[in-house]
Amino acid sequence: MDRVIIFDTTLRDGEQSPGFSMNTMEKLEMARQLARLQVDVIEAGFPISSDEDFEATREVAKQVGTLESAPSICGLSRVGLGDIDRCWEAVKYARKPRIHTFVATSDIHLKYKLRKSRAEVLKAAVAAVTHARGYCDDVEFSPEDASRSDFDYMCDVLSAVIEAGARTINIPDTVGYAIPKEWGERIARIRERVRGIDTVVLSVHCHNDLGQAVANSLTALMNGARQIECTINGIGERAGNASLEEIVMALRTRRDFFGVETRVRSEEIFKTSRLLSHITGIHVQPNKAVVGENAFAHEAGIHQDGVIKEKLTYEIMRPEDIGRPSNKLVLGKHSGRHALAARLKDLGFDLSGPDLDRAFKTFKDLADRKKEVYDEDLMAIVTDEATQQVAGYELEYLHVISGTSVVPSATVKLKKDGQVFQDSGVGDGPVDAVLAAIDAITGMKGRLQDYSLRSATSGKDAIGEVAMKIDFDGTVVSGKGSSTDVIEASARAYLSALNRVTRPAVQRVKEIGP
Ligand code: KIV
Ligand code: ZN
Repeated sequence: MDRVIIFDTTLRDGEQSPGFSMNTMEKLEMARQLARLQVDVIEAGFPISSDEDFEATREVAKQVGTLESAPSICGLSRVGLGDIDRCWEAVKYARKPRIHTFVATSDIHLKYKLRKSRAEVLKAAVAAVTHARGYCDDVEFSPEDASRSDFDYMCDVLSAVIEAGARTINIPDTVGYAIPKEWGERIARIRERVRGIDTVVLSVHCHNDLGQAVANSLTALMNGARQIECTINGIGERAGNASLEEIVMALRTRRDFFGVETRVRSEEIFKTSRLLSHITGIHVQPNKAVVGENAFAHEAGIHQDGVIKEKLTYEIMRPEDIGRPSNKLVLGKHSGRHALAARLKDLGFDLSGPDLDRAFKTFKDLADRKKEVYDEDLMAIVTDEATQQVAGYELEYLHVISGTSVVPSATVKLKKDGQVFQDSGVGDGPVDAVLAAIDAITGMKGRLQDYSLRSATSGKDAIGEVAMKIDFDGTVVSGKGSSTDVIEASARAYLSALNRVTRPAVQRVKEIGP
């Protein structure tokens, strides 16, 4: 059967959208899970954009890209030769490295953003692909803003980069402007018009501004595209990218119609979706196709009646097809280190040595406070550990006074580089007071932009997961923390954000030009 290449860009396009940034450890956890999901390509980052992104891409290439039957590890690069060198330095450790270089081809971008002529851009694209081919065979080229580019000019650029050695031609609908019928026709015309197009893989990368990303990707496929770029939970710039789970399940459920297959192990989809939510602290909407909380819930009486009699009446997919578990009790207070390691491995976290020791200690503390420990609790523990591991301030002690007729106040002790600092603060509520005390110690003043609290499981003793977005003097970072005490979870979330902003590598290069 005809096969479609699934190119996952969760760690690049997904990660570059506000609120979804991940540190190296978090990217590695995600990349390991993407490898288990069996995507064909992981776009791990944009190495020139920051030292942190370079390091994360390199670690994914080294630690995931070298596994047996690892996916290709790809890095994004503008067409500047220095960008390509940096990209190669990051991806070169992988068994199958890929350089993905791009430049805009629409007149709008040429005139206002790049301030270059069509001829200059064509020349830069060819030079970039030639340079990248000097490093590896697997080179992908994208004409950014393809859906608004002059068709003939874009085809000239594509013919030229194929001649220069590009092996994959990716057509991005950068601004989510395309409509399925028109997009399908554009892909078909590219296949007719571009020289050498049959010798390369034709790919699409669709954004979701008009809610058409998945439909556009599938229409492109019907017109000859054989790689789809997508992300878990559909995250990405603005309204996001085409969602991987929707694409894969559409191809699987409607194999009769599309007649193509992917290598993706669909039973890993749910776990991958949840892992991303845990890592980023951003949850999918309940009615999200395939992975939303309600995706398999039948509420109407007539539907429930039908499903009880025969699932086929209202279910076109089975929960088990995407590996959706029942939230079962997994471990208790007497469970040992091996049992924890084995369960974590099933959940996508391969921990050993000091990482496992730390997780085990936290698990034991939790099992003492909480009778029943669920998969969701374990995921919260491990992702919280990963977040807290960015060097910096650690929470040592917290004391809060709050109530209906007192001014909320907090005393906080933090530890950094072996030294303990203490201060106190007052606020509108207990969380505000804790953050004021932390600000008094660190001398940094964060402005809370977003705060969300969610319980990892049901029950009064559930772990509370706090996700925050904080503006530290113009730099917005997200932080996460979890605990059975929601005030402590808030303090941890704030510290994880603060520790990230004090790392200089977090400053991203925003300017994009050739
Ligand atoms: O949306 C876009 O155009 C991109 C390219 C870099 C492929 O993300
Ligand atoms: Zn994009």
